[in-house]
Amino acid sequence: MQLAKHHSMIELKSASDTVTIYTFGATITSWIHHSTEILFLSKQAVLDGTKPIRGGIPIVFPQFGAGDILVSGAGTKQHGFARDKVWEVVSVEKERAVLRLKADEETKAVYPHDFELYYKVELRDNGLYTELRVVALTDLQFTTLLHTYFKVEHIGDLLVNGLKGLTYKDKLTGQQIKEDKDNISIESEVDRIYLNTSPKLSLSLGQHQIQVEKSKSLPDVVLWNPWVNKSKAMSDFGDEEYKNMICLESGCVGERMRLMRGDEWVGWQCINVQK
Ligand code: BG6
Repeated sequence: MQLAKHHSMIELKSASDTVTIYTFGATITSWIHHSTEILFLSKQAVLDGTKPIRGGIPIVFPQFGAGDILVSGAGTKQHGFARDKVWEVVSVEKERAVLRLKADEETKAVYPHDFELYYKVELRDNGLYTELRVVALTDLQFTTLLHTYFKVEHIGDLLVNGLKGLTYKDKLTGQQIKEDKDNISIESEVDRIYLNTSPKLSLSLGQHQIQVEKSKSLPDVVLWNPWVNKSKAMSDFGDEEYKNMICLESGCVGERMRLMRGDEWVGWQCINVQK
């Protein structure tokens, strides 16, 4: 694969696992756990740095969706800019890496604040740990997501657990709906924001179970599957690939996080796989 000169890939390895991180967006594109790929990466994903990577774990910052945190008119961007900036590599060890994104002229034009983001990726005994730290060098506000695409063999086998009793905002209809299912199956397009979820959620995937544990600072979860029509509309996503993925995105999107100059904020998730 041809990478543009200004960005590159990092590989972390433990005895059983390998993680690949692109410096472009600090996007994790692959996590192979005991020979099984856990993350979904579209076969049509663009990996040359000309658009955000479709799959893996892109970072949404400082704005979820079209949002209104970025200066309007000045290149307002869906999901912010962190996923399509090249991050600096601060350190790489065998099982751990830290990447950094600092405010620059380009970010200040759409987000007039000074900040540093640090993203730590670590292979731990209990899974893949990812941690985003926001250092506010001026007062600022943001929403954020670890926009995690999980690989699914057959969408019909997938069940999402841990969201029963919560109210979600259905982005497709604008309605607020109370979740009454213990086990959520995906049978059509889904684009939902669940607020104030439990810190532990799980996915049953037939052959294995995935548990997502997350910090209290990431209270919300976006559940997304584009299904038939949206899949066809995305140039970097195969028409049939909705059958092989689900996005369960840990984040802080219900309310903006507000930091004062000098404040720091940390949000993390740890993904664990069980046979
Ligand atoms: C999800 C949003 O987080 O990301 C969806 O809730 C959106 O509305 C999806 O379609 C993918 O966004 P993008 O910008 O990567 O195409």
